[in-house]
Amino acid sequence: MQTKEIKTIINEYNSIEELPEEQILIVNKAKEAAKKAYAPYSKFNVGACVLLKNGEFIQGNNQENAAYPSGLCAERVAMFYANAKYPDVAVKAIAICAYSNSKFMSEPVPPCGSCRQVLLETEVRFNSPIKIILFGENRISIIENAKQLLPLSFDNNNFD
Ligand code: THU
Repeated sequence: MQTKEIKTIINEYNSIEELPEEQILIVNKAKEAAKKAYAPYSKFNVGACVLLKNGEFIQGNNQENAAYPSGLCAERVAMFYANAKYPDVAVKAIAICAYSNSKFMSEPVPPCGSCRQVLLETEVRFNSPIKIILFGENRISIIENAKQLLPLSFDNNNFD
């Protein structure tokens, strides 16, 4: 029997000013996107911004529906649009935040399992790490790649 341990490294920052310029920009674009979310049912407005290797920023937000499962998370709206518009360009980073009751969440909001799976697909597809920036008013958490958010993942390497 062997025991394996999987490690996820999370770098935490107490203020957005500690981040480099490009990361401040992507976070601010995610915050801007959150305010435009269509979330009349949950009233939990999520914003995401994808930074592509070509320097382009793509924003997304959650889009809900009266038929609840027909809605989509902010991260997947942004990722799918980025991959649709630039199918040959790798994703460098994604920033995520959530806004509810007239304020941004104080703690970082991590992406759901399905969004992690989608982030991983793009990371594997381009063989290029996607930095994940989770914004909260009290804390900003940064994880260097999607794989660390989804260990023991299922991806196309499992096909053989
Ligand atoms: N939501 C996201 O947009 N991203 C996540 O990673 C978690 C949840 C959305 C889905 C739904 O519109 C609302 O937040 C409440 O779950």
